[in-house]
Amino acid sequence: MRVALIGHGAIGRVIAAELLALGPAAGVELVGVLCRHAEEGAGLAVPVLTEIEALLALGPQLVVEAAGHEAVRSHGEACLEAGADLLIVSVGALSDAALLEALQRKAGAEGRQVLLPSGALAGLDWLQAARLAGLDSVCYRSRKPPQAWRDTPAEALLDLAAVREPAVFFRGTAREAARQYPKNANVAATLALCTLGLDQTRVELIADPQASGNVHEIEAQSRVGRISLQVQNLPSPDNPKTSLVTPYSALRTIMARCAAVSV
Ligand SMILES: NC(=O)c1ccc[n+]([C@@H]2O[C@H](COP(=O)([O-])OP(=O)(O)OC[C@H]3O[C@@H](n4cnc5c(N)ncnc54)[C@H](O)[C@@H]3O)[C@@H](O)[C@H]2O)c1
Repeated sequence: MRVALIGHGAIGRVIAAELLALGPAAGVELVGVLCRHAEEGAGLAVPVLTEIEALLALGPQLVVEAAGHEAVRSHGEACLEAGADLLIVSVGALSDAALLEALQRKAGAEGRQVLLPSGALAGLDWLQAARLAGLDSVCYRSRKPPQAWRDTPAEALLDLAAVREPAVFFRGTAREAARQYPKNANVAATLALCTLGLDQTRVELIADPQASGNVHEIEAQSRVGRISLQVQNLPSPDNPKTSLVTPYSALRTIMARCAAVSV
């Protein structure tokens, strides 16, 4: 499978290095990387492009976006139109209903797929099965140390330096959470798109002095049972806002596309 990558930052670098290490023997070939500036891809053993047209001219069967919400907006449809499936890591971009609809329409028209990795989350397999059986409620809680909420609207709601107990400063829908806290939208959007949608999935954002890192909690009730889980992610050394597991989650999704036995 010919794979192209958009973005060579904290996530893109790990994906590129792992794909190059796996190589054609694993059934996967990294054909090129799109960067904003050629220097961002310095040292890569594959072509580094700065124009999407040049990347798509390499004939990828799958394009992996790991660049940001704007890249999904500007390049998403072009990738599908060029005959590639599209793996979107910046899932929060899809909380824009018009963008989601445009990508769905284009994928349908071209016979392609848009793929979303589980990212920093777990349990999406169970939740998607439960959705088919009947899902009653889904709540996502994001628990981070108070200082991790700096430069967000939380600053106006809480004195972050003085928080001593867990403080819930946002309760609302996943769509509203994505609108007010766009940099934290990826996980809530992924969960919502897999379950009850952005307007029915509940979100709570918590400044918690006891939280050791980015903690994600899911509570869901369904006709087949209930799930309650907590994931404690370690941060990427290159970008503390990104969980270390995220690029490996994208890699898992890529490898599942070319595996003889796929879970
Ligand atoms: N799904 C999830 O659970 C999850 C988790 C963490 C991060 N993310 C998202 O993944 C994306 C990447 O995260 P990161 O930690 O690697 O960020 P990063 O800032 O370390 O890297 C992003 C890179 O993409 C490049 N870039 C930006 N726009 C580009 C474009 N149009 N074309 C080519 N390159 C472009 C930047 O220059 C940068 O090098 C972000 O949007 C982030 O929100 C998703």
